[in-house]
Amino acid sequence: MSRPVLQVVAASTRPGRRGLAVARWVQRLAGEHAGFDVELVDLAEVGLPVFDEPNHPRLQQYTHQHTRDWSATVSRADAFVFVTPEYNHSFPASLKNALDYLSAEWADKAAGLVTYGGVSAGLRASSAVKPVLGALRVHVVPEAVSVPFFAQFLDEEDEFVPNAELEAGGKAMLDELARVTTALSTLRAA
Ligand SMILES: Cc1cc2nc3c(=O)[nH]c(=O)nc-3n(C[C@H](O)[C@H](O)[C@H](O)COP(=O)(O)O)c2cc1C
Repeated sequence: MSRPVLQVVAASTRPGRRGLAVARWVQRLAGEHAGFDVELVDLAEVGLPVFDEPNHPRLQQYTHQHTRDWSATVSRADAFVFVTPEYNHSFPASLKNALDYLSAEWADKAAGLVTYGGVSAGLRASSAVKPVLGALRVHVVPEAVSVPFFAQFLDEEDEFVPNAELEAGGKAMLDELARVTTALSTLRAA
C-alpha cells in the first residue's frame, strides 16, 4: 500500500534565508518516520508571483500555468508541515500568497507547524497562520515545534543541529500528523 505524501513547505524565500536549514531538518526527520513519503516544497523555487488569478480559487478556473503547476503540486499531498519564520509578528507574505492561490487543494488535509524566531520562537507566526489554514479547511495538529533563538542551532555550515527536545517534539508532531491523516482520508474519500 502506498504511503501518504507529506510536503515540507519552506516558507521563507529571501536570498540568504536561514529557514531552508530548518526545513531540511524536518525533511530528514519525516523521512525517518515510517508514515510518509516526503517531499520538500521550497516556495523560493516554486516562485509564484503575487496572486494574479482573476477568479476565486474555489472555481479552479486557473488562467496561468504557474497556478496549474502549484495546484498539481499541492493536490498530490496528503499532509503538510509548514516551516515558517516570524516576520513582523506574523508569518511571511510568501506563505500567505501561496495559500491564497488555491482552495480545494488544501482542504481536509492535516498540517503541522514548525516556527522559528528570536525570543518568540515564531509563536506569533503560528497564531497568525492558524485562522488562514482554518479557512482553507487545513487541520492543524496541536503538536508543534517552536524554535527560540534558532540561530543557536545552526552550525558553521549553516546546518540545523537540533537538541533532543526539538527532535522529540518533531517526532511527536509527525506521529500525530500520521494519525490525523489516516482519519482525514476517510473524510476526503467521502
Ligand atoms: C522582514 C523581517 C521581519 C522580522 N520580524 C521578526 C519578528 O517579528 N520576530 C522574530 O522573532 N524575528 C523576526 N525577524 C528575524 C528573523 O527571525 C530572522 O531574520 C530569520 O533568519 C528569518 O528567517 P529566514 O532567514 O528563513 O528568512 C525578522 C526578519 C525579517 C527579515
